[in-house]
Amino acid sequence: VSGRIALEMGMDAGFAEQLVHAAPMHDIGKIGIPDHVLLKPGKLDDEELSIMRSHPQLGAEILDKSSSPLIKLAYTVALYHHEKWDGSGYPFGMKGEEIPVEARIVAVADVFDALLSKRPYKEAWPVEKAVEEIKSQANRHFDPQVVAAMLSCLPDLIAINAKWREE
Ligand SMILES: [Fe+2]
Repeated sequence: VSGRIALEMGMDAGFAEQLVHAAPMHDIGKIGIPDHVLLKPGKLDDEELSIMRSHPQLGAEILDKSSSPLIKLAYTVALYHHEKWDGSGYPFGMKGEEIPVEARIVAVADVFDALLSKRPYKEAWPVEKAVEEIKSQANRHFDPQVVAAMLSCLPDLIAINAKWREE
């Protein structure tokens, strides 16, 4: 999904291909989160939330200091994928184009996938509802250009998501 959005935004095919492989590592830092927080079914309290919110930095530590371009890309995505366009994200509260574009793309792809997935606390959303939610977050959570690219290749994204779900 991230790779297809990158192509739609006019990025070169090599970069999009790297992003296909880097994006699945975005939450790798969650392996450092204790199970009682990670697997808690209900709402997290303040302390648990701050532990959970350390996963971008934990992921970046794991992926740091590699000379591989793929792992460098994965590092950037892991560290910044919870930043939000309007500055309300974490860990740094970065805004707009301060956030690396690869992380802005993965932010949209991550939420798209999460909304379409069934979780212990929620059902899978229908595609139309998920798309409405993401559209409503353009300029807030998300880069409006990434949202626009998502909309213009939506049938492909739905197909990629469905295929990935089967596998
Ligand atoms: Fe995450």
